[in-house]
Order: sequence, then structure tokens, then C-alpha cells
Amino acid sequence: MKEKKKIMFVFGTRPEAIKMAPLIKKLKSEKKFELEVVVTAQHREMLDQVLNLFGIEPNYDLDIMEENQSLSDITARVLKRLEKIYKNEKPDLVIVHGDTSTTFVGALTSFYNKIKVAHIEAGLRTHDKYSPFPEEINRHLTGVLADLHFTPTKSTYYNLINENISDNNIFITGNTVIDALYQIRDRDFEFVQAELKNINFNKRKVLLLTSHRRENLGKPMENIFKAVKKLILKNEDLEVVFPVHLNPRVRKIANKYLSDRGRIHLVEPLDYKPFINLMDRSHLILTDSGGIQEEAPSLAKPVLVLRDTTERPEAVKAGTVKLVGTNQKKIFNEAQKLLNDENYYRQMAEAVNPYGDGKASERIRQYLLYEFGFAKKTGDEFGEY
Ligand code: UD1
Ligand code: UDP
Repeated sequence: MKEKKKIMFVFGTRPEAIKMAPLIKKLKSEKKFELEVVVTAQHREMLDQVLNLFGIEPNYDLDIMEENQSLSDITARVLKRLEKIYKNEKPDLVIVHGDTSTTFVGALTSFYNKIKVAHIEAGLRTHDKYSPFPEEINRHLTGVLADLHFTPTKSTYYNLINENISDNNIFITGNTVIDALYQIRDRDFEFVQAELKNINFNKRKVLLLTSHRRENLGKPMENIFKAVKKLILKNEDLEVVFPVHLNPRVRKIANKYLSDRGRIHLVEPLDYKPFINLMDRSHLILTDSGGIQEEAPSLAKPVLVLRDTTERPEAVKAGTVKLVGTNQKKIFNEAQKLLNDENYYRQMAEAVNPYGDGKASERIRQYLLYEFGFAKKTGDEFGEY
């Protein structure tokens, strides 16, 4: 009888928590594994929202967040605090997710301590060093350090093959964000926030806006918000809902350009449940978020991506997501076209599911059982994946 293996999850921001939550739940029910959850708390309130929703109680909380933290601040603080935990706990495997600074440092500290690393949502690439910044390079470096690579799609699998990573260590699983989405979506959901409760989603067209990327701070973000203001002026039946990220630099620009405007609702970051259900009831989405680009196609919502590049080309190919960048005129024209042209809207609002089928966590569980010799591979257990 093999002894249990200790698996340690390391994450720190809202999107990592959302995408790790279904996997933590899945592995918790697996008797062969002992789990430890370490949060760096690179985010505080936005992380805690997700931990509460999914009932995750971390074993360790590094509590590193500071207002207006720099990339070096995050990197140095996580690196120092994480090592002590690794040395005490001696995990058999560390699991990191995606492309944040927590992800990269979680993997780097594992390498320094010769602990195996599994990378969830591996292989996404823009091949543009500064876009998204610093995520493209964080993800790349994590890929270099990782031993096991769980890629969401075929094209991300081939990105890693092209980087000479061994086929034996790459597993295509779908994205765990779709697992989370399916667990949380609720057609009967009712908002408690007065501002959202009062919107008549049947009579009004709701444009959902989010923007937080570091490379968009400053002029690009100003352009985005100016375009949105113009859309409100031109369309009387339009309402904009913008859950504003807690980054003070984002909030300053949002308040300058979008506050005190009728039909523009600046709200606090929403819990995942109201947010998903708000997406589900929106007419169109403007965002620079990564996760939202993955969720929206499953909900049949057209997305205009406020970036010049994307590491998630699958939904662009499928036609539900369009890259529009941060040029004010282009954003306005593209959104206006979706608002005016019903056929065009319908073409983009096709429900497609390039990112998963809700079973990614189960696939990862299975592959981890193989990895530790608890189960034998039988071949193509998971069909397409
Ligand atoms: C981080 C990730 C980014 C991810 C995003 C998700 C890096 C370098 N960036 O960016 O990849 O897309 O999270 O949202 O890892 N803040 C709070 N409370 C919170 C969260 C943030 O007050 O709960 C404020 C703090 O002042 C903090 C600032 O926001 O300093 C920025 O947070 P940070 O994690 O550094 O960067 P994000 O832009 O959120
Ligand atoms: N999200 C949320 N509340 C909000 C805005 C976003 O729960 O007010 C969720 C969203 O559904 C997605 C994730 O947060 O799963 C995306 O996070 P973010 O845009 O901050 O980061 P990114 O995905 O760009 O790394």
C-alpha cells in the first residue's frame, strides 16, 4: 500500500482561486492525496470573496498584499515567505495556476527546493514579451520550471510541443474555469445589490465592462472609458455595469471618466456568483480580462477584447470574441455595430465551448493518480481530450 502523497496548492489572486477551486474540491475527495492550501494573498478582498464562496480554508496565508504593490514587491515577498513553508511541509508536488507573479514565484521556489511542480492552464502564448505584461513571461518561465503541464486546449498543447517539452508530461484537460462556471451558474439567481436589482434586463441592453491590465493603465484605459461614455450618449436603451477592480490606479481613472453618469453603474468587484449571472444577463461584454474571454463563449455572449493580442485565440477563431485593442474610435465602432446590426450580433453570440466541458478537474485528478503510480493509464479515457 503506497503512502499518501502531499499536494500543495499555491495561489494568490481572484482568477487563480476561481480556477483552482474545482480542482481543490475534486482532490479533497481523493483518499490517496493529502492537501495543503497556501495563499500568498497577492489579492486580499478579491481572493477572500472566492475562498468564502467555495468554502476553502487555507492552511497558510502569506498575506503579502500592499496597496499599489510593484511586481518586484510581490516577487520578493512571496519568495521569502514561501520557502519556510516548503521546508516545513515538504510537499511531493506543488500545483500552481496560470500566469500571475504568485504563479511564477511558486514555481521558482519549488525549483530551488527541488519539489515537483504541476502547472495548470499551461501553454498559453502571445509570443509578445510585453503583452500581456508581465503575464506572458510569467507563464513562459513557469512552463520552463514545471514538471507536469496541464493545458486547456489542443493549440496550447502544441505551443509546448513547439518549445520541446516532452509529450509525456503534457496533458490536455480543458480549462477548470468551465468546471467552476457550471457549478456556479444559476438561471433563477436574483441580485441583492440594489443597483443591479433595479436594472430591467429584458428592456435594457446591458454592456458589461471590466478593465484592469497593467499595460492598459493610463492612456489606453482612458481611451476605453471615453469610448464607453460615447456609447452611452448615443444609445438611450444602453446601461453599462462596471465592477471596478480594487487596483487604486484603475479606480482613479474610472472615477475620473465614468462616475456621475446616468446609466453607467460603477460597482464594487462582484462575488463570482453574481458576476457570472450578470454576464449571463448582459447583452455584450467589453473586457481586457483573461478569464472572462473563456467564460463568455459558454454563455453565448459576444466579447470585445480591449487588448492588441490574446493568448486565448480559440474563441476568436470561433467568432464569439473579437480583439479591438484600445483605440477609442475602434472600440466605439465595434460596439455600436453589435448594438445596431442584429445579424452581426447573432453571428457573434453563438454558444461555443472551446475551453472545456466541465470535466477538467476530473482529468487532472486522473493524471495525478497515474503520475504517483496509484492508477494505470488505459489510453484515451477522456475521448476528445
Ligand atoms: C493581478 C495579476 C494579473 C491578473 C489580476 C487578476 C500579476 C502581476 N498580475 O493583477 O495577472 O490578471 O491579478 O485580477 O500577478 N488590490 C486590492 N485588493 C484586492 C486586489 C487588489 O486592494 O483584493 C489592489 C492593491 O492596491 C494592489 C493592486 O490592487 O496593490 C494591484 O494588485 P496586483 O495583484 O499587484 O495586480 P493586478 O493588477 O490585480
Ligand atoms: N470576476 C468576478 N467578479 C468581478 C469580475 C470578475 O468574480 O467583479 C471573475 C470572472 O468571472 C473571471 C475572473 O474573475 O472568472 C477574472 O478575473 P480578472 O479579470 O481579475 O483576471 P484575469 O482573468 O484577467 O487574470
